[in-house]
Amino acid sequence: MTTSAPPATYEEIVDRILERLASAGALRETNDERTWDSFGRTSAVIHHTFDIPPTAVTPMMRRLLFALGRAARPRTIAGVGTYVGYAFAWLLGDASDPAAHRFDRAVGIDVDRVANEQARRNCDALGHADRLSFLDEDGAEALRRWEHGPIDILYLDLDDPVRGKRPYVDVLAAALPHLAPGALVLGHDPCVERFKDDIARYHEFVRASSLLGPWVLGVDACGLSVAGVPVAR
Ligand SMILES: C[S@@+](CC[C@H](N)C(=O)[O-])C[C@H]1O[C@@H](n2cnc3c(N)ncnc32)[C@H](O)[C@@H]1O
Repeated sequence: MTTSAPPATYEEIVDRILERLASAGALRETNDERTWDSFGRTSAVIHHTFDIPPTAVTPMMRRLLFALGRAARPRTIAGVGTYVGYAFAWLLGDASDPAAHRFDRAVGIDVDRVANEQARRNCDALGHADRLSFLDEDGAEALRRWEHGPIDILYLDLDDPVRGKRPYVDVLAAALPHLAPGALVLGHDPCVERFKDDIARYHEFVRASSLLGPWVLGVDACGLSVAGVPVAR
């Protein structure tokens, strides 16, 4: 009997996750041979230019977000609770990288005006010019009035001082009519104990919305929840 060796590196673990998501119908493509070189170059740009406070985004999560952002080939990306743009940056990639996937439109949404100013300064280094913007707004409000076309990746990372991750449900509800067939919905922090009830409610809503998943990827202490819009709805 042959057994495949367990993945040994972060990259191999992410490759394996993407293969599983593709076989479950949540991704049309997996990593290509240029993904990890491109990740290394993008990481150098981000870590040489960004000004960020301490972050919960681990080396493993950076690779996972980067690989998902590439494999999903998004034309339009929306992020809610994007703070200073660090986690979001891995989904966006570096426009000047020779192996970059280029999106048409990405919008980061955060209620914190000062964080958005920093996110704009940080993400300027990624060269997406006016294809990328950051809005000072509540995520659900902004998505109710969304005018940027079908969303291919929705990234949720808001953390309300009182409501915690409960608004993930409100944001997804507002975004549902705008999600493209085959869209990915990514939620940060499903493994964090203090968000357990909020995430359970969010996952109930995902199931009730007939999305694929949710899959909880416990790749680090925060984890990533992945759901997908079926290609034909
Ligand atoms: C703590 S940050 C996420 C940080 C990220 N996980 C990291 O480790 O780098 C959460 C962000 O959600 C934002 N936020 C809270 N409620 C929001 C809402 N209703 N709409 C949009 N953003 C919101 C906060 O302003 C904050 O910038």
